[in-house]
Amino acid sequence: MSLKVLGILGSPCQNGIAAELLDAALRGAEERGADVERLDLPKMQIHPCIECRECDSAASCVQHRDDMAVIYRKIREVDGIALSSPIFFMGVTAQTKAMIDRCQCFWIERYVMKTRAYEGRRRPKGVFLSCAGSPKPIVFEPAIHTAKAFFAAIDYEYTGEVLLGHTDDPGLAPRKAVAIESAKAAGRKLCD
Ligand SMILES: Cc1cc2nc3c(=O)[nH]c(=O)nc-3n(C[C@H](O)[C@H](O)[C@H](O)COP(=O)(O)O)c2cc1C
Repeated sequence: MSLKVLGILGSPCQNGIAAELLDAALRGAEERGADVERLDLPKMQIHPCIECRECDSAASCVQHRDDMAVIYRKIREVDGIALSSPIFFMGVTAQTKAMIDRCQCFWIERYVMKTRAYEGRRRPKGVFLSCAGSPKPIVFEPAIHTAKAFFAAIDYEYTGEVLLGHTDDPGLAPRKAVAIESAKAAGRKLCD
């Protein structure tokens, strides 16, 4: 049976650079025979975590009736996730962060209840893709920590990140081409 790879886009710009990196990663996974799907968070209704603490004991979210239900199901079904978000104010976008915060129920499941979401099958893999206007590598650091925390909570193996800085550089094209190739390779690696 084919592996399933999910692309999650956190950029409000559905044809922007984060989207290009994500599509490249999904093409890479497809080259390895995976079934791929892209979900665009800005088109979905995902409410932020309300810190009700209900998931402390139930390991499920009381707000599950919004589009997060789709993400919860996919996290348990797929074999790999490529998460792509541009940097907004030194972190991931609000849409991305809302989705990640709603995964607190997986954190409870893994670290409090000590059960494995992928029990009985290959451990799924995750990769983080990002882009930023700034040429300074430090701009990605908070988002990398957030992405690592997300993949740890959902119990995926973190395979690394593909980052493209200085996106407002008029001479971006050759660096972008390299990043697209790296994203493709990262997508293939999700299927190893
Ligand atoms: C609200 C907002 C906040 C941003 N904050 C940062 C920032 O803190 N650091 C940075 O380097 N770029 C920042 N940027 C620039 C974006 O990261 C950059 O334009 C990126 O390439 C957009 O990717 P996209 O085309 O996939 O949406 C910001 C852009 C917006 C709209």
